[in-house]
Order: sequence, then C-alpha cells, then structure tokens
Amino acid sequence: MSAQRNLDLDAALAEAERRFVQAHPASGKRHDAARKVMPGGNTRTVIYYPPFPVTISRGEGCFVWDLDGNRYADFVCEFTAGLYGHSEPAVVEGVKEALANGIVLGAPNRYEAELARLLVERFPALELVRFTNSGTEANLMAMSVARVFTGRDEILVMKGGYHGGVFMFSGNGSPLNAPFPYVLAEYNDLEGTRKLIREHAAKLACVILEPMLGGGGCIPADVEFLKMLREETRAAGALLIFDEVMTSRLSPTGLHGALGVIPDLLTLGKYLGGGLSFGAFGGAARIMERFDPMRPDALAHAGTFNNNVLTMAAGVAGLTKVLTAEASLALNARGDRLRNRMNAAIEQRKLACCVTGRGSMLNVHFVRGPVRRPADVAAASKDWVKLLQLEMLARGYYMTHRGMLALSLPMTDKETDGFAAAFEGFLDDYAALLK
Ligand SMILES: Cc1ncc(COP(=O)(O)O)c(C=O)c1O
Repeated sequence: MSAQRNLDLDAALAEAERRFVQAHPASGKRHDAARKVMPGGNTRTVIYYPPFPVTISRGEGCFVWDLDGNRYADFVCEFTAGLYGHSEPAVVEGVKEALANGIVLGAPNRYEAELARLLVERFPALELVRFTNSGTEANLMAMSVARVFTGRDEILVMKGGYHGGVFMFSGNGSPLNAPFPYVLAEYNDLEGTRKLIREHAAKLACVILEPMLGGGGCIPADVEFLKMLREETRAAGALLIFDEVMTSRLSPTGLHGALGVIPDLLTLGKYLGGGLSFGAFGGAARIMERFDPMRPDALAHAGTFNNNVLTMAAGVAGLTKVLTAEASLALNARGDRLRNRMNAAIEQRKLACCVTGRGSMLNVHFVRGPVRRPADVAAASKDWVKLLQLEMLARGYYMTHRGMLALSLPMTDKETDGFAAAFEGFLDDYAALLK
C-alpha cells in the first residue's frame, strides 16, 4: 500500500473505489438490478454508500460474507442492533421455539410481559413499558405522550441529534421530519440550553436527546449537562426523554443508569429485540399509566406487531441467557480498550484524527478534537471516512461509511486487535496526508 503515500485525498479515494469495484462484481451486479425497482437500489438510506454497497449474503458469529465471497469481521454490527452477533444459539433457539408455536396469534402471548419485566428490572427509568416495532415509532410515541401529558406543543432537540427517519436534526434537518414545533439546542452547551428551556418553559412539552449522540458521531454528553436538563425540565414542568435506542447497550443499566440521571421517559430499540425489529418506550408510571385501557380517559396505542412473538421471544432469550451484567461490562471494556489503542496510535503519529465514544460504540473523526458537539466535526472532509471504510473493507473489516463502529458479544481480542492493527496500517499509509 506504500504507493498510496504520495497521492492526494481525491486520488486516493478514486483509487480505493476502483479497487472496491474490481473486488465486488457480484455486489455491483445486484445493485444494478435493485436500481430498476427501488430508488437508488435502496430501501434504507444509511446502508447506501458510493459507488455501491457490498451485498451481505450471510453472517455467523461476528463475521459476515459478501456476495463475492469476501469475509469481514463485522464492526457495523447492524448499527448497534447486532450486539448478539449473527448466530447466538440461545437467541436462535428462542426464535425457533416461538416459530414452532405460531407467529400471528392476535392476542397477548407468553413472552411480552416477561420481556417487559426484564426491561423494567434492568433500566432504572422504567416503571412501565410498551412495545413498538422500531425506535422511530418509540420516539414518536414518547414525544406524543409528552405533548398530551403536559398539554404543550414544543419539543427541544439537539442539533445533530437523530431519533429515527422522521426525526433527523443534522444540518438543516429533513423535510420529511414529523411536523412538530422543534426548538434546537447545541449538545453539551450547558448555559445556552438552560436559557432556551427557560425561554420556552410555558410551551415546552419535552426535551429529547441521547445521553451520548450515537449516529451523530458517538459524542458523549457531560454528566453536568444531563443533570442541568433534569433540573430545568422539572422546573419548567416539561418531560425529559432519553433516547437510549443505541446507548442502552453501554452498561448493564443503560447509560442513564451508569450516569445516575433518570429521565421521565426512556426509549429503547435495536439489540433488545435480540436482533429482530424492535422498539419500546416507557418510564414513570404517572405518565405511562395513561395507556391503561381500563381507564375511562385511556390513550390508545396500537400496532399490529407491537408484541410480535418472534421479537418478544428473541428479546427474552437474549436478556435471560446471554446479556448478563458481566457480559455487558466485558463488551464495553473491550470497546474502551480498542478506542484507547486507536487514539494512542493517532497521537503517536500526530495526525488530524480522533476516536470518540464510550464502551462498545466508537466513531472515527478526521479532526484533531476534542469533539464535544456535531459542529466540531462539520469542517472535516467526509471523503476521509469514505476512504477509511473502503480501506478497512479491503483489509477484511466491515465498518460504516460515516466512521461509526460497534462491537458484538462474539468478538474476541483477535478481532479487536486485528481491527486496531489494520487501522494503524491505514494511518501509516496516509500519514503524510493526515498530518
Ligand atoms: C438514537 C436512535 N433513535 C432512534 C433510532 C430509530 O430506530 P429504528 O431504526 O429502529 O426506527 C435510531 C436508529 O438508528 C437511533 O440511533
């Protein structure tokens, strides 16, 4: 790879793309066919990247194989939902058992209350919980119930935050966003956000944020910032919602449990359904009991697949048989070691790059840091992360095109050390350009 050292970034990316196309003819062909029936060949924007995404045909443990037969250690980890890996026997058994007993039962089933109990026991913010099909839906329900509960309209969100396909707040947001009146605050801006909450107090239904931005770049919140939000929302009579769709994996009790800041409502998703479609929202009984159908003023919450038996069974199997507190702590310690090693490698070489995150969620940024809010990385060329992704794919490591990495339980030192070594190789190859 030493020949790349003298190229500029554009030339390096063009060369990496050329090699990528050459190495993935079957993925390219499948993409061309898909484009005839789906816009851009795509039904999920985040998994598209140019020139075309690899088609993954199979996964096992912490590995995936593409249509061209290349094997990768999977650091995409289904954007954190793949915490159990691809073939955790307990989860597979749980699904098989459910499958053998009928999948469209149209009634409460054996698993949902058990999964709810496991979540309520695990996460301090939850007194009562309800299920949805996705994290997006969970957030829609949480924000909507906050508006009903408070009788107010406005929702304070963080610039660069992401709460699902209709709640995207990076850049100018998305024209597809759900049409709520949003107030935008700067992540980790303690005084600025305090001021905004006070200014909007009379109209503010809730503040919603991730206690570490996930898709927004794995940027942890200062605990003082979260504590301020807790105090100020309480004083304003607004609800505090933590979106822990991704971050609940960061400790045995979620990130709010680890940090000791308890929101009124919590939203969940991803891995908690064992790798199947999942979402949940819950929190204080005084709010959630409004969904009790026996109440005369009950709020209805519908969803054909809210208690779909395969997800419920997979979720129960994962939480009872696999994701013990020890397993969660070990996974996150592994992530901390990987992040520290990558940052040490960057520091040693004095490069314009840093790795943020916590535990099993990491993000590579091509700026020197510190990164405390999405604006801190806005100036970095996106081409660097694209180049990193293509170079890591070529080295046998599957990662996202925006620099995010997540770890799964089946990973061992071999995969994380291997990833770190491959990353160091990338840094060496492009050190001259990254100074
Ligand atoms: C923080 C956060 N909230 C909500 C969502 C939406 O979840 P889903 O994709 O299941 O709708 C995501 C998905 O990545 C997320 O990262």
